[in-house]
Amino acid sequence: MERIPVLTSDGSPTLYHEGAGEHYHSLSGAHLEARQRYVWPCRIVETALLRGRVKILDIGFGLGTNLAWAVHEVQRGAPGATIEIVSLERDLLSLSSLAPHLEALPEARLSVMLRGLVTHLRWRQSGVDLALLVGDATREILNVEAGFDAAFLDPFSPKRNPEPWKVPFLASVRSLMAEGGILSTYSSARSVRCALLRSGWQIGLGPAVGTKSSGTVASAGSVIPPLPPLDEKVRRKLEQRIASVEEEETE
Ligand SMILES: C[S@@+](CC[C@H](N)C(=O)[O-])C[C@H]1O[C@@H](n2cnc3c(N)ncnc32)[C@H](O)[C@@H]1O
Repeated sequence: MERIPVLTSDGSPTLYHEGAGEHYHSLSGAHLEARQRYVWPCRIVETALLRGRVKILDIGFGLGTNLAWAVHEVQRGAPGATIEIVSLERDLLSLSSLAPHLEALPEARLSVMLRGLVTHLRWRQSGVDLALLVGDATREILNVEAGFDAAFLDPFSPKRNPEPWKVPFLASVRSLMAEGGILSTYSSARSVRCALLRSGWQIGLGPAVGTKSSGTVASAGSVIPPLPPLDEKVRRKLEQRIASVEEEETE
């Protein structure tokens, strides 16, 4: 399937996936989105500072942008901390397709790291331990060991890739999280928020990135400081929807 290079508004590159009819990143900025949508709301630097280590589940490796920024920000903000990331990707791109994206990363060593990961599906060096599982995330998740502090939920949209947005997968991810682990996603769809709640997550309002509407954050148990709350009306609608789904299921 054809993928077309596109430059986003912060000057970083992304791709348009013709088959999915979607871009790999927000057009407001691929690098901006990695930090504002995933790295910061998941509080990975804070966890690394507190515990000396952080473990992240990266769902939808794509061009490796979220992963690279996670490593960059943790190493800058919590030097000496170890960082472990497990990435899931069903449609791994070739190194030649990835090359322009790797070259655009903020440090050359991140590009070396990602080349190593994509070639060997494993990268271990200087406190960084990365594993890339190639296959459908809904199956690969069964081979993943628990203990995640953060999850980046970034497949294509629920319309295009429905399975990773449904209760069975989100419940599997929830079961792999450490207490207080945080998930962030760009989706604010009611169906996704309901599925998160029904899978045992607590949910809150994710940040708006560029012109995109606010996404969703979710935590495994309560967190301090608490997640930014959803609007009360929105929360009530979610509760009503869950009640009606549960009623249908018992009929
Ligand atoms: C929006 S892009 C992810 C961008 C990526 N997070 C980054 O930082 O470059 C979505 C990615 O999710 C992958 N994907 C979609 N559904 C999947 C599934 N069920 N299992 C594994 N990967 C999936 C797609 O192949 C695509 O690479």
